[in-house]
Amino acid sequence: MAEETSGYENEANMTTTCSAPGKIYLFGEHAVVYGKRAIASAINLRTTATVAESDRTTISSLLGTTGIDYAVHPYISRCIESLNIPAVSIKIDSEIPVGSGLGSSAAAVIATLGALNFEFDLGMTHTALAQAGHAIEQDVQGTASPTDTAVSTMGGTMLITPGVSASRLRLIECSIVIGDTEEFSSTKELVGNVRILHESYPGVMDSIFDTIDHLSEIGVPLIERRDYRSVGELMNIDHGLLDAIGVGSAKLSRLVYAARDAGAYGAKITGAGGGGCIVALVSGSGVGGGADAVASAINDAGGRAIRTKASEDGVRVRKQVI
Ligand code: PMV
Repeated sequence: MAEETSGYENEANMTTTCSAPGKIYLFGEHAVVYGKRAIASAINLRTTATVAESDRTTISSLLGTTGIDYAVHPYISRCIESLNIPAVSIKIDSEIPVGSGLGSSAAAVIATLGALNFEFDLGMTHTALAQAGHAIEQDVQGTASPTDTAVSTMGGTMLITPGVSASRLRLIECSIVIGDTEEFSSTKELVGNVRILHESYPGVMDSIFDTIDHLSEIGVPLIERRDYRSVGELMNIDHGLLDAIGVGSAKLSRLVYAARDAGAYGAKITGAGGGGCIVALVSGSGVGGGADAVASAINDAGGRAIRTKASEDGVRVRKQVI
């Protein structure tokens, strides 16, 4: 247990600040909802929750300041109500675009639970935090795989086998460029659409999910060998399969093709799709096909490029003077 809280830097004083990362999927979104394997990685975009004991409960974010309010702050309200704690003020700051497939809700949930865990000495390990976060995502969304909350808690590049394990792989070391369509994506709606298609054509959909599972399986040794060219080829295949199950869009494909044409190793939707983001793996060398060229191509195609890297850092908490 002790090592599971080793990310905590305990200094003295007033507020507790906790941050947690967003994530990208290399393989396996949607298929993971049907029990298939997925590979996802934490990135260096983070959400921070700052908590302090207070005479009444407040939640502040870009969306405004409320009390417990399931219309405006469903995830944070559920975090507070799932724990037996006194009144508290919580402030959320995020570098992760909301509703974009980058795990913004999981990062907010894990940062909040991590801060409350520390502030009120609740004794939750990282494993317990990830489980509690997953339960909150399920309560709020109806369906949620354990991927986002596991990766946001543990950090790193991870192989998720739902209901079995979340194991750490070698960190993705090449550059990553995200292309944001800046169109909102509702995970709940997209997962619902895929379910309807699965009910209509179970055989077709199951064989697509099995193929995606196979991509995750053969992706593992390629990541360990740092063969990002081959990982990129498999990501391109996964993008085609995501298109096939109806979660693509013209704009997502424009950004994917812009990134590939500019020399990315591979590019695909990340997360639920419909809108949201694509992710491209690119050479870290800075020469032809590097992050600059891919980011400009995404911007020229009407997206918003975000340059990032994979990150080993999961949830991090500290006390600070205000
Ligand atoms: O768009 P995001 O970051 O919420 O990712 C959704 C991924 C799905 O596989 C579609 C759903 C899930 O809970 O894993």
